[in-house]
Amino acid sequence: MAAAHSWTCLILVWIIADTTGKTPDVQVTCMFSEDCVLPCVFEAVGDEIIYWFRQNVLIHSYKHGSGLLDQPDQHNNRTSLFTEVISSGNASLHIQKSGPQDRGKYRCLVTSSRKNSEHFIIVKVEAPIHSVSLETTRLSGFEEVKCSTRDVYPAPRVTLFTEPAVLPDALQTFTRKRADKQDRYSVESKIRKLNDLTYICLVQSFYRSQTWRTSLQEKEISSIEGQDLNIPCAAPWNLQNFTLTWSFTKGHESSTVYTYDSLTQLSSSVWKEMVRLVTARGQGGDGSLQLLMPMRLEHAGLYTCILSALRTKHEVRTRVNITPSTAERQSESSTQRWIPATVITCLAVSAVAAIVTIKCKVGCSKSSQTLEAAEMQPIRVTDTNSGALSEDTCLTEEIANRPA
Ligand SMILES: *[C@@H]1O[C@H](CO)[C@@H](O)[C@H](O)[C@H]1NC(C)=O
Ligand SMILES: *[C@@H]1O[C@H](CO)[C@@H](O)[C@H](O)[C@H]1NC(C)=O
Ligand SMILES: *[C@@H]1O[C@H](CO)[C@@H](O)[C@H](O)[C@H]1NC(C)=O
Repeated sequence: MAAAHSWTCLILVWIIADTTGKTPDVQVTCMFSEDCVLPCVFEAVGDEIIYWFRQNVLIHSYKHGSGLLDQPDQHNNRTSLFTEVISSGNASLHIQKSGPQDRGKYRCLVTSSRKNSEHFIIVKVEAPIHSVSLETTRLSGFEEVKCSTRDVYPAPRVTLFTEPAVLPDALQTFTRKRADKQDRYSVESKIRKLNDLTYICLVQSFYRSQTWRTSLQEKEISSIEGQDLNIPCAAPWNLQNFTLTWSFTKGHESSTVYTYDSLTQLSSSVWKEMVRLVTARGQGGDGSLQLLMPMRLEHAGLYTCILSALRTKHEVRTRVNITPSTAERQSESSTQRWIPATVITCLAVSAVAAIVTIKCKVGCSKSSQTLEAAEMQPIRVTDTNSGALSEDTCLTEEIANRPA
């Protein structure tokens, strides 16, 4: 097995060495619309002729002493040699404002009376990702979450998903790629917005040199006035070297209420001692905020938390409702309980009164001599559970019903 591997390896090395003239290919990534240099150095002897090929097509030839021999590719006049350094053995090729048309395999061939040398350069052109946006939109008539990036080359991969995962049918993912005149891509991906989900968008460059992560969460929480409240904001991934910004929006006014920088560990707050981080130093990307004794009028509203780090952004928008304090609620609810209790008691009293009246009419007359004693007894009419009515009650009723 190992022997077979070694053989395969040897054969591959031999093939590569043979086709590239013993020098390994050099990879160069040119930045879109910026200048780019393809290296080619040689041992200068004085009578060299330099040839540059792109995909086996000659684009430049140069003879030391007599200057430019030929530039066959007239349509590509963005390439040139640094003629002033050729005598010192530097035949590098200069590409101005590189673009997609400059990608490919280049060959630098230097022939001289002494020896020939050859270099291969693989050129990639890249317009890196500069920003990724993840936002909610209503353009299609229903709420959607849209992730987009623009001016990227080659077209990046955009992956938009939710946590917890939802079946793709429910989300109706839609992705669109568009190229501008210069061939740079704008890519956007949209999915339906459902409640209580975290939306995560990953944008990866074609050559996998960059991955941008962004997430968005919207929710609503309720709290009681005067009771400490935690507003969660933890990134779905571990974060280091991040900045945290909490802003508060009420009506049309928005302001930053708290900021924290994990690198300097410095925080600032316009609400002074009223707010603090739940986790010490926002460990691992937990930017959850604690509000101490929030008040209904001042502190109910929209809280936006943004955790940002290199190529990473996590945003949580939390609508905070604050209900009246426990004490107020208790008095309110006890009033509410009190009303039905009173009604029941009144009804019970009336019912009992009715029963007693009937009963008394039938057999209370004989007890009238104990009236005085009965008046000293407590009245127990509210005890609706006792099925048998006591003599006392009966007597009291008799008294009440007596004409003065
Ligand atoms: C390159 O060629 C184009 C047309 O072929 C021409 O318009 C342009 O001026 C040239 N640029 C340079 C720098 O020579
Ligand atoms: C060759 O010359 C170019 C242009 O001056 C320079 O950018 C490059 O670094 C040089 N290469 C070497 C190996 O000296
Ligand atoms: C965070 O910043 C420090 C100091 O600049 C650096 O040494 C470290 O590598 C950074 N860590 C990450 C994950 O970027």
